[in-house]
Amino acid sequence: MDENLTGVVFAASTQRTIGVVLAAVAIGGFISYWIFNWLSGRREAGSEAELALNRRPYLADEELEGKKLDKSLGAGLVCIVIISIGLPLYWLGEPGRQEGLIELSDETAVHRGEELYEERCATCHGTVDGPGGFRDHTLVDENGAFLAQVSWKVPSLAAVLYRYSSEEVRYVLDFGRPNTPMPAWGSPGGGPFSTQQIDEILAYIEHEQIDIAEVRQRLQDGLESQARGQARDQLGAEASAQEVDDLARDILSGASDDPARLGEMLFNNEYEGGVFGCARCHTPGWVYDADDYAEANPLIPSEVSGGGAFGPPLANGATLRQFTTVAEHEDFVSSGSENGVKYGSFGQGDGGGQMPSFGECVGDRDASERDRIKRNDFCGERAGLLTDEQISAIVAYERNL
Ligand code: HEC
Ligand code: HEC
Repeated sequence: MDENLTGVVFAASTQRTIGVVLAAVAIGGFISYWIFNWLSGRREAGSEAELALNRRPYLADEELEGKKLDKSLGAGLVCIVIISIGLPLYWLGEPGRQEGLIELSDETAVHRGEELYEERCATCHGTVDGPGGFRDHTLVDENGAFLAQVSWKVPSLAAVLYRYSSEEVRYVLDFGRPNTPMPAWGSPGGGPFSTQQIDEILAYIEHEQIDIAEVRQRLQDGLESQARGQARDQLGAEASAQEVDDLARDILSGASDDPARLGEMLFNNEYEGGVFGCARCHTPGWVYDADDYAEANPLIPSEVSGGGAFGPPLANGATLRQFTTVAEHEDFVSSGSENGVKYGSFGQGDGGGQMPSFGECVGDRDASERDRIKRNDFCGERAGLLTDEQISAIVAYERNL
């Protein structure tokens, strides 16, 4: 071991240094005790008659029952006082110590999760609280033959725990999303991470979730940028920024008067990888703008609104058959699906826990409370991405698909 290395080993921590010093003192003390004992032992040899404790005359009764007794009793009293005050005081501190330990281990988990996230997730998702991004992806047909090189929208994770319970996010992390660039990370899906590492990543994602007011603001920003895009398409390249803004405002206010139009905009909200909308899971190819490639390659399916992708098709009256009333349909979009729980008016839907919760006032998904707790005091505690009005608008749009 060279000198530097020794330095590193001993400088590793204050605790270690203290430990080494204590060990040196203990060993040194033991050696001197042993030497002293050994030396004096020699001198004692042969004098057992005087030295043996049981052969020496002991103190007289007067002496024993006087000061000596008082001293012993006094010392006992002091000990009892120390114990009877000290022990409860120590107990009083116990919950604090436990909380401190839990906090410390939570912080450690978040910190480790952050490192794993930076290393393995940030390349595609960016920061957790950021806007998501894009990922180059090669589309292939069933036989693995090349179809196109596309740019796949990567969802923002800033509000993922408003949509899913942590167990549902764990499922996505464990198994990935088949047929998308999102690979399996957990050992159950054959990925590189242990359950503990997935726990740590989850702790970090939870730590970074944004405030609900900001979620709503970003959703609104998404609608505005969508309206500006439509305005630019209608006006052409020559239009001034002012003209685009004016038309965008008209488009938005027109949509707020017409639920089905507002519903269409919300359904296709493209912001932050499409996390606020529905098209990324329910419209084939929407997530990589398939129409840009479909003309050149007829094997690439064109985007049909609600035609079905990762989520089932919603078009051609599918939702009317699934939900006989508007209220049932709205409740489903608000609460989402639950793994192993049937949904739909006749329980014909096969819930896999993959359809997110979008509404406010949905019970705690982590506690499997899916019923909507509408218009009561708890409502504000479980905020959602979309307001009741926005969900009604989407449902109005979907029922006409
Ligand atoms: C190669 C790029 C890539 C990497 C690396 C990656 N992801 Fe993803 N992830 C995606 C894409 C693309 C999707 C969306 C798939 C889709 O279209 O449904 C996604 C979806 C998700 C979802 C579901 C979000 C939702 O609202 O549907 C979660 C959660 C997620 N990723 C977390 C992670 C975590 C955590 C890591 C790191 C351990 C990670 N991802 C690494 C590309 C990636
Ligand atoms: C992350 C992907 C994803 C997103 C985003 C998503 N869904 Fe779904 N949706 C699903 C899946 C998957 C199912 C099927 C249930 C399951 O597997 O849990 C489903 C089922 C449905 C159903 C029932 C359809 C049927 O016939 O069974 C409706 C209605 C629906 N979604 C509406 C919406 C609306 C409205 C939005 C947007 C506000 C939306 N979905 C966003 C994945 C998604």
